[in-house]
Amino acid sequence: MPDTLTITDNRTGKQYELPIQDGAIRAMDLRQIKVKPDDFGLMTYDPAFMNTAACRSRITYIDGDKGILLYRGYPIEQLAERSDYLETAYLILYGELPTEAQYQDWVREIKLHTMLHENIKKLMEGFQYDAHPMGIFLSTVGAMSTFYPDGKDILNDESRRHQRVRLIAKVPSVAAYAYRHHIGRPYVYPDNDLSFTGNFLNMLFKMTELKYRSNPVLERALDVLFILHVDHEQNCSTSAMRGVGSSHVDPYSAMAAAAAALYGPLHGGANEAVLRMLEEVRTVQQVPAFIKRVKGGEGRLMGFGHRVYKSYDPRAKIIKQVADQVFEVTGRNHLLDIALELERIALQDEYFVQRKLYPNVDFYSGLIYQAMGFPKDMFPVLFAIPRTAGWVAQWEEMLLDPDQKIARPRQIYTGATRRDFVPRDKRG
Ligand code: CMC
Repeated sequence: MPDTLTITDNRTGKQYELPIQDGAIRAMDLRQIKVKPDDFGLMTYDPAFMNTAACRSRITYIDGDKGILLYRGYPIEQLAERSDYLETAYLILYGELPTEAQYQDWVREIKLHTMLHENIKKLMEGFQYDAHPMGIFLSTVGAMSTFYPDGKDILNDESRRHQRVRLIAKVPSVAAYAYRHHIGRPYVYPDNDLSFTGNFLNMLFKMTELKYRSNPVLERALDVLFILHVDHEQNCSTSAMRGVGSSHVDPYSAMAAAAAALYGPLHGGANEAVLRMLEEVRTVQQVPAFIKRVKGGEGRLMGFGHRVYKSYDPRAKIIKQVADQVFEVTGRNHLLDIALELERIALQDEYFVQRKLYPNVDFYSGLIYQAMGFPKDMFPVLFAIPRTAGWVAQWEEMLLDPDQKIARPRQIYTGATRRDFVPRDKRG
């Protein structure tokens, strides 16, 4: 017998049987519950989608209570240890790990698309010297829609594949150009002899040397950070990508919206906010007073808490190990002691324990980025580069899902009832 939920409407005495599938009822099944024939039908009220599944997805699985994260079934710990960013991006997009030949073709294809149109460079030159790189990044991704009008052919499989490759390949170039513009250095063209991450570091940090070679430990560390940030199911920016993409706009415009969502301090901007917070705390001795202020409602402990994880974020565990490797090369970030003390105190404190607030991915990532030489306002951009693979995979899944239509939530209207217009001279 199929699982059902029986609802009795106490007003009418009528009973309704709603099928339960995959642990959910369909909100549309509630519409049949009406008191009068002209009744619209019952809705659910769920601000911030606390308990509403908006899609079926085969991409990323999270068990928030157990702290488990799987990409296409593979544990994040194994991918971080044994894969690389481009292989993981392939997995996220195609559902399977590539064979050696598929991997080589994929890497070659990405490398063929790393260059930016010269006019994109000119467009970026128009930004103020102190423009936030994430503002430059999201505007440029949106502007790419005008450079690639074929991106509008969103129902064509081959066109979609092409746009996905372009986006994954070009975002490091956009990010690096945004950074070089910000610090007033000339742009560096991609060097396709280098790895994906090695080339990104080249475009960021190359000076007058003929060939840029990054430190292999730092290059690998950045690649691991990229793996950890590839996808995280239906978070704010991914929901923006799906929601905006559901209007059938091109992927560049949809991704500009996703990047804008990521920019916020409650989402991908949290890594930058964590560093500013650590600098504000200043010393280990100030930590208890800071925690007291947070508990008193004066701001949040940035890099702590998560909508889904109610235990330690598995990505934060891996990042802590990466931090040790990076600090061996760069020297220890002096803010690390403050972060460790904040974590130590918060994990024992009733306020945080009761609310199940643990460090998330952003708590330690900024310390690594800073030690590697990135300014704070580049941190959200570093999040956006690998998340591009997740966004375009989720966009593709949304477009191919026959259950999906244009996203359009309902509302509960709480405004004035119908009333007649009063001329200005008659208003009291
Ligand atoms: N510091 C202090 N209190 C917190 C924090 C925090 N970081 N996070 C949640 N709380 C409290 C909150 O005040 C509330 O308390 P009460 O029940 O007394 O009102 C309770 O915990 C539940 O919080 P919520 O705001 O209802 O939880 P949410 O699921 O809506 O928010 C969150 C999730 C990530 C936005 C939130 O935990 C937060 O603002 N964290 C800090 C920002 C941050 O680190 N964001 C990165 C998230 S992970 C990566 C990503 O998504 O980019």
